[in-house]
Amino acid sequence: MQIIHTVTELRAALNNQASIGFVPTMGNLHAGHIHLVELAKQHATIVVVSIFVNPLQFGANEDLASYPRTLEADCEKLKLAGTDIVFAPTVAEMYVDFDGKNLNQSMTITPPPIANELCGASRPGHFAGVATVVMKLFNMVQPNVAVFGKKDFQQLFIIKEMVKQFNLPIEIIAGETMREASDLAMSSRNGYLTDAQRASASQLNSALQGIVNQLKSGNKDFLSLESSAADHLNKAGWEVDYISIRSALTLQPAQTQDSHLVVLGAAKISNNQAGKTRLIDNIEVNV
Ligand code: PAF
Repeated sequence: MQIIHTVTELRAALNNQASIGFVPTMGNLHAGHIHLVELAKQHATIVVVSIFVNPLQFGANEDLASYPRTLEADCEKLKLAGTDIVFAPTVAEMYVDFDGKNLNQSMTITPPPIANELCGASRPGHFAGVATVVMKLFNMVQPNVAVFGKKDFQQLFIIKEMVKQFNLPIEIIAGETMREASDLAMSSRNGYLTDAQRASASQLNSALQGIVNQLKSGNKDFLSLESSAADHLNKAGWEVDYISIRSALTLQPAQTQDSHLVVLGAAKISNNQAGKTRLIDNIEVNV
């Protein structure tokens, strides 16, 4: 496995490769990421994994500085998973006009309006940052297939739109969400949780599952399902950002005639000592 830090070396290593599978990550890898690598291996002869904590997708008061950077341990895991190339650029390599402080990224991708809803409502600019770095990574790696996790359902949707609208010759493959035994969705941010928080973190999934059960039994009162799940979590000590039932095909609010739905949620779990960690999860359902 090669570990590469510059675009020039990456291009040399990828020259003349028959088919390239790509898994973009921000590192601090867990079994969910390894599952994405395995999917990429099934669809390509060479697999590239990028590890880059992208400043452009973090808001001013978010966890950019504290986001876990664990390159050595990540590379061990990727080697065991059969990765061919790890691409771990510096901020200066990724953002050519970086002056040591500001990214000066004057050309960015403007994502579709859905990027301002759900996670985008409380994280303005987040999906523009994601789409821009993913476009840059696509240009650097030039993959045939790229794999993204369904845990970030809205991100996956926006990347698919970008590929479609910019005519990129890349097949996007979606990897299922990997879960702990408690059904807590695996996430690099779970590392922020204390033992007590971790024990109650699966309540978010249970709340979404409760809605799914109601939908399956024919309940179509979407607004009341959303608000009672949010109330329940808020009463249990969470700070709910959103609980939303959407069409899985368009990400627009669910309509009674929609049959493929996704129930999405984002909430901060808090205890007085350890601060707050924002978790997201979603479950798809056919009704
Ligand atoms: O999902 C992530 O880890 C990031 O948003 C991504 C796609 C690697 C872009 O920085």
